[in-house]
Amino acid sequence: MIATRITPLIKVLNIVNNSIKRACEMLANGDLVVMPTETVYGLAADATNDQAVAKIYELKNRPGFNPLIMHVPDVTQAEKWAHFTPAALHLAEAFWDTDHRSLTLVLNRKKDTSLSHLATAGLDTVALRVPNHPIALELLKVFGKPLAAPSANRSNHISPTSVEAVKESLGTRTPFILDGGICAVGLESTIVDMTTPEPVLLRPGGATKEEIENVLGVSLKLSTSSACIKAPGMMKRHYAPNHPLRLNVIVLLEGEALLGFGPHVPSNATLNLSETGDLREAAANLFQMLRLLDQSTCKAIAVMPIPNHGLGLAINDRLKRAASSESINL
Ligand code: TXA
Ligand code: MG
Repeated sequence: MIATRITPLIKVLNIVNNSIKRACEMLANGDLVVMPTETVYGLAADATNDQAVAKIYELKNRPGFNPLIMHVPDVTQAEKWAHFTPAALHLAEAFWDTDHRSLTLVLNRKKDTSLSHLATAGLDTVALRVPNHPIALELLKVFGKPLAAPSANRSNHISPTSVEAVKESLGTRTPFILDGGICAVGLESTIVDMTTPEPVLLRPGGATKEEIENVLGVSLKLSTSSACIKAPGMMKRHYAPNHPLRLNVIVLLEGEALLGFGPHVPSNATLNLSETGDLREAAANLFQMLRLLDQSTCKAIAVMPIPNHGLGLAINDRLKRAASSESINL
């Protein structure tokens, strides 16, 4: 009885192990691999190999000045590449080793490491994160080197939260994919700059401002400049559907598809981010639902107001960028 249950499980584990082995061979060969994370799918390259990193920029059509996030399996590995202040270490241990929240820390790079300078776009700082996905963690452990990985979409496309979305965005150029199912968080990681005297929130995301402030015991400053090169992720247009997007909509206009939120949505809403008004569920659904509406025949997408606290801050940030008329290719 037990044997009949365990055999299929062993088969699945073997398939995963073989895929991870294959992915490691490709990465070692300087090729790209699509890796699942809890936030969005990443387009990964060996972060110590400039040529491999260049392939990321090429495939995404991304300007060279935009630095990438380095993924590592734990705090100990992260310490090889960057200087951690006591506050940064405290945050890292709380969010990476204990609570497993989607947090990226910007820290000062250690000098004389093999980390690609192309991956950090020539900056003296580096963005590091420990993803919370068993396949990504296993890949990082087996590969043994950090992986540079932006979201696995072409620039100006929505970040992919499923294998189908990756294929749709990257098309025939899609590299080998490690299938990890649907991304549970569905929004990119929160980025905090720890290189300044006071920590700065560069990008709201999967870990909330409140959770970070609780651990740090101080308030996070908000990054203000949208043109600041230190935080190119803050540039306005980044997550862009093809249809125009109207936000905080109460009254629907002719030809618009309504993306609702909460229990009290008009009956003509096409989709609902969360019927119970749960911001975590809404975050997980955001990109997938925007994609679905973008593929429909509507003239424009209208989005109901989303509360601006907790994960709502990150959701509204993504929506504002998607609705912005400025066009910057990231
Ligand atoms: O959830 C995520 O963070 C996903 C998954 C794949 O891990 N990755 C992701 O990477 O969103 P990407 O490359 O799309 O976004 C990286 C952001 C960019 O906005 C970039 O400007 C910022 O991180 N960044 C990277 N290094 C930085 C640095 N040294 N200083 C300031 N910002 C940095
Ligand atoms: Mg991205």
